[in-house]
Order: sequence, then structure tokens, then C-alpha cells
Amino acid sequence: MADEGEGARLEHMVAIACDHGGFALKEALKVALPDVKWLDLGTNSADSVDYPDFAGKLADAIKAGKAGRGILICGSGIGISIAANRHAHIRCALAHDVTGARLCRQHNDANVLALGGRTIGEAVAKECVEVFLRTTFDGGHHQKRVDKLGSC
Ligand code: RB5
Repeated sequence: MADEGEGARLEHMVAIACDHGGFALKEALKVALPDVKWLDLGTNSADSVDYPDFAGKLADAIKAGKAGRGILICGSGIGISIAANRHAHIRCALAHDVTGARLCRQHNDANVLALGGRTIGEAVAKECVEVFLRTTFDGGHHQKRVDKLGSC
């Protein structure tokens, strides 16, 4: 198989970050999906931290080309998704089910999926991540709407 080069390999990396409310689910997802090339940006314990800091780390990693997609987790998924979407190159979608995880790729070309560590079960979260990572953007009439969201 041809060498894809460092850039292509980094594009396949999936950044993951969380606050204390998402720590348990982050660890569970890494175990449940061992074939994903995770770039784990913390946090690394259940000690209290601030979710904007971890959304920022993940946004920076995507901007730097260290990962192509990202998963963010806080207690509800709300705070960390709001924080992520303050970064112009991020389109972060909070999903509670597999349909949302699929549609945010097909219609919105979301590059980051947010999950609530205290609101979603591990099995559903795993399926959401799998679907988010394998689903492609539909383009077509969705493209001009995504363009209106700003740069990415
Ligand atoms: C932390 O207790 C919690 O507020 C945070 O994880 C998140 O749910 C905020 O939106």
C-alpha cells in the first residue's frame, strides 16, 4: 500500500477532549473504539476543570492539522459545544442520538461532535461516534448554507 504521508495520516486522527463531566465517557470511548486513531487532549482525571479550555485545545489541534475531526464531551455537551463554536473553523454539533450524529455530517459538514457525559449512555455514544466518523457530507444544496456559516 502506498505511503499516505504524514499529512494524510494526521488527517485521520480524531482529537478527543473533555472536562471532568465527560472524563468517564472519554475513557470509555477510547476503550470501546480502539481502532480510532485518538489524539487525547485531556482532561485526564475527574478533577474539576473549565470546558472552554478543552474546547480550545481541540480547536487548536484541528487548526494545526493534527486531527481532521474531533469529539468533545462535558456533562451535558452544551457548554463545550458552545465554546467550540466560538472558533471560526469549528462546526460543532451536540448530538443525543445516532440520527443527529449522521445528519450533522450529511447536512452541516460538522467537524466536531459534542456529547453529554451525564446525559447519554455509553452504547449510544459509541454508535454516535462511529456514525459521525464514517458519514460523508452530502454537499449539493447544503454547501451554500455551510458556506454562509463562515470560514472553515
Ligand atoms: C460541569 O459540572 C458541567 O457544568 C459541565 O460539564 C457542562 O455540563 C457544562 O455545560
